Amino acid sequence: MAVSQEGLAICDGIRMDKQNFMLGIVGFGGMGNWHRELIDSIDGLEVAGIYDIKESRVDYAKEVGVKAYESLEALLSDERIDIVLVSTPNDLHNPIAIKAMKAGKNVVSEKPVTLSSKDLQEMIDASKETGKLFTVHQNRRWDEDFLTMKKIYDENLLGDVYRIESRVHGSRGIPGDWRQEKEHGGGMVLDWGVHLLDQILLMMGDKKLKTIYATETHITNQLVDDGFTAELRFENGTEVLVEVGTSNFINLPRWYMLGVNGTAVIEDWNLKGEIVSAAGKDEADVVPVRTAAGLTKTMAPRREDTIKKQELPVVKSDIRDFYRNVMQVIEKKEEPKVKLPEVMRVMKLMEAIFESAKEHKVVEFE
Ligand SMILES: NC(=O)c1ccc[n+]([C@@H]2O[C@H](COP(=O)([O-])OP(=O)(O)OC[C@H]3O[C@@H](n4cnc5c(N)ncnc54)[C@H](O)[C@@H]3O)[C@@H](O)[C@H]2O)c1
Repeated sequence: MAVSQEGLAICDGIRMDKQNFMLGIVGFGGMGNWHRELIDSIDGLEVAGIYDIKESRVDYAKEVGVKAYESLEALLSDERIDIVLVSTPNDLHNPIAIKAMKAGKNVVSEKPVTLSSKDLQEMIDASKETGKLFTVHQNRRWDEDFLTMKKIYDENLLGDVYRIESRVHGSRGIPGDWRQEKEHGGGMVLDWGVHLLDQILLMMGDKKLKTIYATETHITNQLVDDGFTAELRFENGTEVLVEVGTSNFINLPRWYMLGVNGTAVIEDWNLKGEIVSAAGKDEADVVPVRTAAGLTKTMAPRREDTIKKQELPVVKSDIRDFYRNVMQVIEKKEEPKVKLPEVMRVMKLMEAIFESAKEHKVVEFE
């Protein structure tokens, strides 16, 4: 180790500002690299290096000027490292996270945290035993579509909400890697469901989730679900549909929320959408619609003067706040934004979805 002219320690050519938190990345694939790029823009946090079993990823690390450790043990025994990010395939989160905590590191695991509530409990126990922070990168809590819908819900802009539909649709099936294999924790419940379910549970706050009815699709893959629907009924009567599809060539809206006074829609990732609500005007003289074979007043469109159209109250966010929070938690200045009981609740909900889909039955939850 050398010392620079400013008095900073230099190791392997990497500047070691003592004030920075150092993070080691285990699993330097697509998402590991996304974290590296993100961390580059976060004050006080620095990537110390990576460990990956694939030579091509080690070569890529070198190309972008990041140290590659020879082994997981080498990374874990680097005393400069405060935080280990686990961004391997899903089945490896549990053993690597536990090993890292036992080596004295704080751990951020990619989602889904692991494959079962039993495995998650082991990880929580390791965090308790070692006193190290363990949290999960539930980054879609920072999605602006979600935050905007949550604001509409929290501020009661539609009146009492009786139904929420949250969907993501694609048409390419499951990516052709470990995500197609059960033993690696493949499938869409674990991949996308974990985000959408986490968002809904946050949105519904302390309301108990009473029952679940779920179905899986196996259109392009027989081993794991390539899509699913889950109907969730909360104690206040609100029904929520969560749906992931990977063989959908026409997408339904990302969000659709129905309240007794109005409806909100978000069509896509670009937050195209609106709120339409009743303007409180008399609708007595509805003009019926003539269809090819009949007449309907019930389904006739509203007169423009009886409705109010509003733009979405878009909420802005900064995903770097995830890591800012991690650093504050380690310094004991903040509570974790992603808390383990929340992660456990989502894990158990995913297990209930698998059970419901397998048995074709309604599952009681809370
Ligand atoms: N939060 C999000 O938005 C988001 C998005 C994509 C993926 N993810 C999650 O990130 C994780 C990684 O996904 P990805 O898309 O980067 O996959 P990927 O296949 O691109 O990368 C995984 C990497 O882990 C490496 N690896 C495998 N076994 C290893 C081991 N024993 N030790 C070290 N490295 C090992 C592989 O060689 C590969 O480079 C998954 O858990 C996934 O669910 C999260």
